[in-house]
Amino acid sequence: MRLGIISALHEEQQGLVEAMERPYKLIHGMREYWTGKLWEIDAVCVLSRIGKVAAAMTATTLVEKFGVTHILFTGVAGSGDAFVRVGDIVVAENLVQHDMDASPLFPRYEVPLTGLSHFASDRQMALELTHAAQRFLELEMDKAIDPQERAVFALQAPRVHRGLVGSGDQFVSHRERIQALGAALPGLLAVEMEGAAVAQVCFELGIPFGVIRTISDNANENAATDFMRFVKSVAARYAFYVVRQFCAQ
Ligand code: ADE
Repeated sequence: MRLGIISALHEEQQGLVEAMERPYKLIHGMREYWTGKLWEIDAVCVLSRIGKVAAAMTATTLVEKFGVTHILFTGVAGSGDAFVRVGDIVVAENLVQHDMDASPLFPRYEVPLTGLSHFASDRQMALELTHAAQRFLELEMDKAIDPQERAVFALQAPRVHRGLVGSGDQFVSHRERIQALGAALPGLLAVEMEGAAVAQVCFELGIPFGVIRTISDNANENAATDFMRFVKSVAARYAFYVVRQFCAQ
């Protein structure tokens, strides 16, 4: 196994490169790819930057140039449903590009000529990510997030959810928009800007992949402020611990 680990932003991958054994940096296509060993696993860590094209470019490079056999995307997301709260963790089972619309040529959300609107993540990876996230919340949350920060975000017993994640080239920050997305895409748990692009690349190249997201905001008018605060003080800690739990399995 060679695991490619992608995040959009530095904060979402904090600590992972530092934890690598024999890290080696290679620059390609304006991105730094760090190869090395992460808890006994052969890994490549990279920041994709934000958006579907950036993520697709990065995922393709990981497979074609770095020979990864599996891809894991870790980062933050906006909540797509009232019962998914800030601080919860969402593991994607399916991903949809919520801004894809080639209708009337193709059905709404369908990626033309793939026949698919929803791309499934690897079942085994989703299962292992769910277990890793649950173990982190049960055993290591206290170590990762100090009580003061938890209070700022009113994080009460965060939970792990599995289901549909929507991706689009849009930071969702209006209540009407997130409600419309939720109504159009039944089961939507979270919105972000990269996962479904990685999903399409991995589907086309036959690479198993997983996407795990910590909820940073409610994709409403407060989303930008919540996101900025959360990504720095909380999300940054989740990734390291969850990926360590995942690699240890
Ligand atoms: N990532 C984190 N929060 C988000 C939001 N509200 N919209 C899109 N991507 C996000």
